Amino acid sequence: MIIRTETPADIDAIYALTATAFAHQPFSDGSEPDIINRLRDAGGLRFSFVAERDGQILGHVALSPVAIKGQSNWFGLGPIAVIPERQKLGIGTALMKRALAGLQQITASGCVLVGNPDFYSRFGFISNGALTYFDTPTQYVQFTQLTGSEPRGEITYHDAFGGA
Ligand SMILES: CC(C)(COP(=O)(O)OP(=O)(O)OC[C@H]1O[C@@H](n2cnc3c(N)ncnc32)[C@H](O)[C@@H]1OP(=O)(O)O)[C@@H](O)C(=O)NCCC(=O)NCCS
Repeated sequence: MIIRTETPADIDAIYALTATAFAHQPFSDGSEPDIINRLRDAGGLRFSFVAERDGQILGHVALSPVAIKGQSNWFGLGPIAVIPERQKLGIGTALMKRALAGLQQITASGCVLVGNPDFYSRFGFISNGALTYFDTPTQYVQFTQLTGSEPRGEITYHDAFGGA
């Protein structure tokens, strides 16, 4: 398996696998595949990595710029998805590591995400109770600092995360 930057030929596969992976998640409203396309169309897809094996796209992760008061050069991780029949085999871990390596390469201040700490804490993500995202319980609002200082306040994601 390789992790590489997306190409135009991957766009449909990324859409399909993201739709499938989020389809039965109780926290999902099904918007994730369209968010990725809107990010791409708006030039907001700072990184888009795919996991590929034998020509098949098995997973994907997106990174886009976010705004946090008093800080700059932070990025939001997500959506991230692995096709259901290949989950729990380490593909998500490989995508997470590549995503964070990409941010290190561009000397990003850090990375935020909203998700299950059971998965993300192993990659160094923590919550501090002061970083917020609407009314999401703060234990799900996590960050990892790279060169920046500790983030506080509301995360504002790219407009692509808004309405359809
Ligand atoms: C989350 C996701 C990308 C992880 O990909 P993956 O390839 O299954 O991840 P890995 O195989 O690298 O898993 C590593 C570990 O995380 C655990 N894990 C995977 N998904 C998890 C989740 N949603 N919550 C908690 N733990 C999770 C695995 O059980 C595994 O644990 P272990 O090492 O103790 O056995 C994948 O499960 C997925 O696509 N889920 C549906 C979409 C989704 O929920 N995306 C994230 C939204 S925040």
